[in-house]
Amino acid sequence: MAQGIFVTGTGTEVGKTVVAATIARTLAGEGRRVTVFKPAVTGLDEGVETDHELLRRAAGCDQSDEEIAPYRYGPPASPHLAAALAGEEIDPERLRNAAAAAAGGAEAIVCEGVGGLLVPLSPSYLVRDLAADLGYPLVVVAGPGLGTINHTLLTVEAARAVGLEVAAVVLNPWPEDPGEIERSNRETITSLTEVEVLTLPRLDLADPGSWPGLAISRG
Ligand SMILES: Nc1ncnc2c1ncn2[C@@H]1O[C@H](COP(=O)(O)OP(=O)(O)O)[C@@H](O)[C@H]1O
Ligand SMILES: [Mg+2]
Repeated sequence: MAQGIFVTGTGTEVGKTVVAATIARTLAGEGRRVTVFKPAVTGLDEGVETDHELLRRAAGCDQSDEEIAPYRYGPPASPHLAAALAGEEIDPERLRNAAAAAAGGAEAIVCEGVGGLLVPLSPSYLVRDLAADLGYPLVVVAGPGLGTINHTLLTVEAARAVGLEVAAVVLNPWPEDPGEIERSNRETITSLTEVEVLTLPRLDLADPGSWPGLAISRG
C-alpha cells in the first residue's frame, strides 16, 4: 500500500498546495513514484495555475486532471456550494474510490484537502470525514504570525477528536529573519501539541529545482 500524507491547514490560502507540492517533490526526489489527490478544486474561473496543475508538476506524475481532482468547479466557493451551483452533490464514495485509484499506482500519495478540516464537501461529509476515511497522517499548514497558535490548536484538536494523527505542523511562509512572535509561535505550538513544527520559506514556484526538501517523518 502507498505511503500517504493528507495536507490540511488552518484555512484557505495558507499554503496547503505549496506545502503539498514541496512534500511531493521531496518524495519524488528520493526516487519514489508519487501521485497526488485533491477531492475538489474550485475557482478555476480565476485563470491562475490550479492546485492540481502545481501538484502534478511537483510530483512529476502523469495523472489526468480527473484522476487528481474528480470534482472541479469554476466559482471560488466552498466545494459543497460550488457543487450545488453546478446542480450536483459531491459523492463521498466516488472520492474514496478516486483516492484509492490514485494511490494504487504509487509508492507515495500526497493528498491536499480543501480549506480547513471542517469544510463541507457535501452537506453531510466534511474534509475531516474524508481524511478519516483515507486514514493518512495529517500535515497542518498554518501562518507563522499572530493568531496562528489558536488556529493551529483548534485544527489539531479537531483532528485528534476523530482519532486522526497529526504528523507535523508547517508554518508557511517562514520569514527569512523570524522575529520574537514567529519564534515563540513555533515553540509554543510544539510544546502544546507535541507535534513536530516545521517551516517552509517563500519559494520561487516557477523553479522547483530551488525548493528545499520537506520530509515528513511519520506517514
Ligand atoms: N512558501 C510559499 N512561497 C511562495 N508562494 C507561496 C508560499 N506559500 C503560499 N504561497 C502563495 O500564496 C497563495 C496561497 O497558497 P496556496 O498554497 O495556494 O494556499 P491554499 O492551498 O492553502 O489555499 C498562492 O498564491 C501561493 O502561490
Ligand atoms: Mg490549495
